[in-house]
Amino acid sequence: MDLRKLKAHGVLLLNSNGMDVFYRGNSLTYKVIGGIFDFYFFSGPSPLGVVDQYTAFVGRPAPMPYWAFGFHQCRWGYHNLSVVEDVVENYKKAKIPLDVIWNDDDHMDGHKDFTLNPTNYPRPKLLAFLEKIHARGMKYIVIIDPGIGVNKSYGVYNRGLANDVFIKYEGKPYLAQVWPGAVNFPDFLNPKTVDWWVDEIRRFLELVPVDGLWIDMNEASNFCSGLCTIPEGRICPNGTGPGWVCCLDCKNITQTRWDDPPYKINASGTQVPIGYKTIATSAYQYNGVLEYDAHSIYGFSQSVATHKALQGLEGKRPFILTRSTFVGSGHYAAHWTGDNKGTWDDLKLSISTMLNFGIFGVPMVGSDICGFYPAAPPLEELCNRWIELGAFYPFSRDHANFYSPRQELYQWKSVAESARNALGMRYKLLPYLYTLNYEAHRTGAPIARPLFFSFPNETKLYGLSTQFLLGSSLMVSPVLDKGKTEVKALFPPGSWYNMFDMTKVIVSKESHYLSLNAPLHVINVHLYQNAIIPMQQGGLISKEARTTPFTLVVAFPLGATTGEATGNLFLDDDELPEMKLGSGYSTYIDFYATVSQGTVKVWSDVQESKFALEKGWTIEKVVVLGLRGIGSDYEVAVEGNGVDSSKVVFGSTEHEYTEKLEDGGDKMKNVMVEVKGLELDLGKKFAMSWKMGIKS
Ligand code: GLC
Repeated sequence: MDLRKLKAHGVLLLNSNGMDVFYRGNSLTYKVIGGIFDFYFFSGPSPLGVVDQYTAFVGRPAPMPYWAFGFHQCRWGYHNLSVVEDVVENYKKAKIPLDVIWNDDDHMDGHKDFTLNPTNYPRPKLLAFLEKIHARGMKYIVIIDPGIGVNKSYGVYNRGLANDVFIKYEGKPYLAQVWPGAVNFPDFLNPKTVDWWVDEIRRFLELVPVDGLWIDMNEASNFCSGLCTIPEGRICPNGTGPGWVCCLDCKNITQTRWDDPPYKINASGTQVPIGYKTIATSAYQYNGVLEYDAHSIYGFSQSVATHKALQGLEGKRPFILTRSTFVGSGHYAAHWTGDNKGTWDDLKLSISTMLNFGIFGVPMVGSDICGFYPAAPPLEELCNRWIELGAFYPFSRDHANFYSPRQELYQWKSVAESARNALGMRYKLLPYLYTLNYEAHRTGAPIARPLFFSFPNETKLYGLSTQFLLGSSLMVSPVLDKGKTEVKALFPPGSWYNMFDMTKVIVSKESHYLSLNAPLHVINVHLYQNAIIPMQQGGLISKEARTTPFTLVVAFPLGATTGEATGNLFLDDDELPEMKLGSGYSTYIDFYATVSQGTVKVWSDVQESKFALEKGWTIEKVVVLGLRGIGSDYEVAVEGNGVDSSKVVFGSTEHEYTEKLEDGGDKMKNVMVEVKGLELDLGKKFAMSWKMGIKS
């Protein structure tokens, strides 16, 4: 995407071959070593217009189930089921929200996909555990890798061989090595392979009722290179703990231009062959497609096959997390940014990576919170800051390496406190996040966006990767440096209300930096003027949080005598494969507010009210920020019935706005009006109004 002279456009080179891309500030050069130069131009002219046009072409982002926006805990090295049970219990005890517990390959028998380790993860016990957590609304996800262990007593492998599903080299399944040792890679471009994969997932779901699948190592990652054999009698892998040293006998393949092209792209450095630690580029996939051409879509093809399996078998909205992506992957899967390090640098880097994936049409994205590879201890302060940022990733998961120290959020008192605080806010914002998922699915709009998406005229914001927006109106300004208790944050022009204390507001005249207080447990999140956001009471599991009454927060420009604000809310049965209106299981609501000639009005417009009414959701409170004067003579009405006005409490309070601006700014009171004690049916239109008394 290019943004210049205040206008955005996009260019896609749809090509799956190896390439180098050089960005030199004012030029972009592609050096591509094969395929077709298939270019597409997206005319924008707004950044949102570009992603809309782009995702209309490559596939709209997948709808996500509601619980996917909850918090996820994972790690490699949960050696047995008791450890997993303990983690879930400890989250509960520490009162830190947790929706999804994950297993890396620890539950597997010898690292083989779709199996259970009978000693450490005995099936009856695992099923009992799942029944328990499912009853609470929690979910369970496990990993699967594409490499299928070569093992004559392994059903998945035998059925794969019988169905001829693997990528072959000179007539034999191509031999590689991943965690189980020697493996073959399924050829997901072959429809027969897809059928076999769907059937293996069907069998697995019968064994373990998982709620989603995590597909990893699908670049495809191989611990060996070239053409390998497994010598008779060799046990591979050998040693204890996961190893990634090649234990097969391999020789380089150099005789073809597919293995040794004249131009060396910088894939794993320019010194190694192009097929280094992946499938040999002279291997063929289905229908004579060369790996040289198809390498980059391996993970994509696995996402498509896995999506087909989950959606078809369960008839439910799938959740798939993939490491490897390609153009269009967002239509099938969420993405995490791979094996990062527990360092301040990688904490920072997670923001730009997440923002890029939003632009790429993969808006459900996040990085391993607290870092995957352990860095030099202590981790505590970093982990505090990471959960404060990570609580606002669209996909929010703590994950660690096999050899890392434990880093669940309850491991340190201070991290637990930051987590309760930041995730507490996330869980109140779940209806907003879920509505953003609906918008992403309809129009490609990223959930987490660079600031320039909402302020394309503010050139100062173009390179900003230390803050971001959720939707168009919530700005997250995290601490990204060790030892800091302040954060310098850029504020585009307008009024910004602190989400943790809405009486506090920052009024910015022009985009400039401001130092914000940010002690260890504070994450700065601000709501922009002209917005209405739906919130709920939060909770420890999204399923519970979702049943609580709503609060609408209406933000006007500070001191407004005329102004307007809008917002929206999408609700549906999140198990349905499709996310749309017209299903009979969804409701869409627009919220409006105006202030004009001394009168404030807040109202809603509801499409397809049935679903929301059946669920019994109510609005308990409306908070209006930024007014100039306190209110009186209020009136509240709901379509079709009355409101018990004896229960409604109308109040307004005045607050000094204390945040100082470098350029001064007008000193003005921030009046906050709260209308409480409401029991409005969310599924019915409502309207409220009052007179705003302006004090001189
Ligand atoms: C890869 C994944 C990582 C996972 C590990 C073991 O490194 O990126 O997340 O923990 O494999 O499965």
